[in-house]
Amino acid sequence: MDRSNTVGARGTESVVSLCFEREMPSAEVERIKQRLGARAALVVPATVGAAWDRARQLGFSKSSRPEVGALMATLAAAVPASGRILELGTGVGVGLAWVVHGLHDRADVEVVSVEVDREKSDLVSCAGWPEWVSLVVGDAREVLPDLGTYDLIFLDIPGALKESVVGGAVSALRPGGQLLIDDMNPYWQRRMPGEHPVDRRDPDGLVDDPRVVCALLRYSSGMILATRKSA
Ligand SMILES: C[S@@+](CC[C@H](N)C(=O)[O-])C[C@H]1O[C@@H](n2cnc3c(N)ncnc32)[C@H](O)[C@@H]1O
Repeated sequence: MDRSNTVGARGTESVVSLCFEREMPSAEVERIKQRLGARAALVVPATVGAAWDRARQLGFSKSSRPEVGALMATLAAAVPASGRILELGTGVGVGLAWVVHGLHDRADVEVVSVEVDREKSDLVSCAGWPEWVSLVVGDAREVLPDLGTYDLIFLDIPGALKESVVGGAVSALRPGGQLLIDDMNPYWQRRMPGEHPVDRRDPDGLVDDPRVVCALLRYSSGMILATRKSA
């Protein structure tokens, strides 16, 4: 449950939004919304729910939060005709399931997801993806330069490694292409009053990279969204 407060002329107004990690009957969602006074509820689609079940069975706790996945689905839906999408760090396929959900019945987009752990990648490959999805087993740092250019990149490998690929990821963005980096929240939590706004959680000074325009998304696990300038 997320509660955001706005202070206005009528005092503090609270907006509650809910997030469910399993598919739920809509009547049940409505009942919980009313009970908690929630304005909005995000429920994961069945395909994403199946990926969550896989994560639970394996005890894998690093899957993207639904708020992050929903953003990926939203960005994927906006990819231009014949576009390409890249995920770095497949995990057990939760983020990938959101991307496929966002693309719905489009078949003109190519999706590539890279995972260093062969066991995980093999497991994900059994989940029945559309034919335009390909899984690559490899270290993102090594394979990225050979994977071509993209309209959307989801950078989701662990903390310190992000720094070593973020420059390459920006280089791989097409003009107007977008890069979403997850798990930036600890940076904002640790920030002290008066501290410089960019610390080492900002991979390789991305917000100062003249090739991109950035937004810091301070919700859920915390994200940076960067768009590659057209010129
Ligand atoms: C946070 S999880 C990914 C979660 C996934 N993107 C999702 O949305 O559910 C990070 C994944 O990156 C993988 N990984 C770690 N180092 C990597 C590397 N150098 N190249 C590619 N994948 C890597 C890990 O094995 C792990 O599965």
